[in-house]
Amino acid sequence: MSSAAISVHGVTARVPAKINLELVVGPRRADGFHHLATVFQAVGLHDDVTVEAADDWGITVNGPYADLVPVDDTNLAMQAARLLASEASIDVPVHITIDKDIPVAGGMAGGSADAAGALLACDALWGVGSSKAALEDLAAELGSDVPFALLGGTAMGSGRGDQLAPVLGRGRYHWVLAFSDVGLSTPKVYAECDRLRANRRVPEPAPSAAMMTALRSGDAASLGRALSNDLQPAAFSLQPRLEEVLRAGMDHGALGGIVSGSGPTVAFLVSDTEQGLDLAVALTASGSAPAVERAVGPVRGAHLITAPSGPSGPSGPRASVGSTGHQTGHTGPAGLRSS
Ligand code: C5P
Repeated sequence: MSSAAISVHGVTARVPAKINLELVVGPRRADGFHHLATVFQAVGLHDDVTVEAADDWGITVNGPYADLVPVDDTNLAMQAARLLASEASIDVPVHITIDKDIPVAGGMAGGSADAAGALLACDALWGVGSSKAALEDLAAELGSDVPFALLGGTAMGSGRGDQLAPVLGRGRYHWVLAFSDVGLSTPKVYAECDRLRANRRVPEPAPSAAMMTALRSGDAASLGRALSNDLQPAAFSLQPRLEEVLRAGMDHGALGGIVSGSGPTVAFLVSDTEQGLDLAVALTASGSAPAVERAVGPVRGAHLITAPSGPSGPSGPRASVGSTGHQTGHTGPAGLRSS
């Protein structure tokens, strides 16, 4: 993570990416969203969102995906900051700096992570002191996945994915993430899912017993078998190459593999660090995925890694640094990302 994460002039929140271990997509609702029954897991791939008081609102994005992120009012982190400012009647503009490691339009809720980070960091910078429930309400206004980015861990999501209940599961899981170099638009993937199911009756979504049993047991092989995603056929239909990526990972011995959310990231579950390294090298060497990274989950949700500055100046080093679960470093030959 870049040195901006330890800025002492502002407040930095660290926020994880997510994988949907299960994503059951129900009927389309009148508001255009779909009823979901989903199980989220936060994994150790993070964005750091730093906010500093400034003369005017602004945003800077650093990292490998910076060029793909809008730096105007359409940025979800900016919308989050302005929403909190308006709710709390704050008149102090901020400059937001995002150190981005979560891929853009990758199905890992990177934009949602940035929004959650901006909410948490601005709340601390401005000394608003919002309750957890108040921040969750604002998060849900910003997007379906934003509340989970605040919560982290492993959680069941219902409604449009924004109503959360933590899952008390066991286990620490090793993931290998195969990124695509072309993003997928979430609304387009949902629309394709509707198109593919146009002639079928779609039942109300419910979580599977197999997923809950696997999480309770903490057994990675059972979890691998229980992974499922109703958006996967739609992601395959829009990016047929993803099916080959999934097959390549399974052929190399992954315990399970799944398109993450609306894709195109494909997440593979492996038994341990060593198998993760082997799979990352194999996927890279085969040319199946342009970039591969490893991460463990579950990890905690959005949290501050610098204390707010007092009126007399910066307040010093990080208030706390949690275990990120992010496995850094090159894991094989050229092509693998490290961060
Ligand atoms: O809430 P969020 O902004 O992440 O949603 C992006 C888009 O994904 C929505 O506009 C909608 O097209 C689709 N979506 C959906 N049902 C959900 C969540 C998202 O149809 N439960």
